[in-house]
Amino acid sequence: MISKTMQDAFSEQIKNEFYSAYLYLGMAAYCEASNLPGSAHWLKLQAEEELEHGMKMFDFVNECGGQVTLHAIDKPTVEYPSLLKVFEETLAHEQKVTALIKFLYSLALKENDYASQAFLQWFVTEQVEEEANASHIVETLRMVGSHGNGIVMLDRELGRRAGD
Ligand code: FEO
Repeated sequence: MISKTMQDAFSEQIKNEFYSAYLYLGMAAYCEASNLPGSAHWLKLQAEEELEHGMKMFDFVNECGGQVTLHAIDKPTVEYPSLLKVFEETLAHEQKVTALIKFLYSLALKENDYASQAFLQWFVTEQVEEEANASHIVETLRMVGSHGNGIVMLDRELGRRAGD
């Protein structure tokens, strides 16, 4: 049976994952309104992934005999000054999520909760990929600068992202 400490920490992280989905959906709304359909597509898939992350944790807590608490989700913005800012914020957000996953893992270690440690391994690896993806896009956008052509090409590339 999962400890109350771990159960509550997972509930908090479920909220964070759902907030991530909402944050990316807000960014997608900005891109849709800014004639950046490929970026909007990428961000909508990202939002779906975040929902999956939250649901993985939801199911895990239940499988371990715990009970999830659902917390309120903050309102995200749909206003951004540029596509670069969107992806800079994506990268900063993923770095924050990595720290949150590390905190959960450290809690699982403290609690001698081996099941949670094994479960969280997937998230530790996933965060490496999440940060690398966002970082690659930020670097490309910095190279492109304000060149419209480059932004259009990157937007097309982002539009080719395939779902799972
Ligand atoms: Fe759920 Fe983007 O990490």
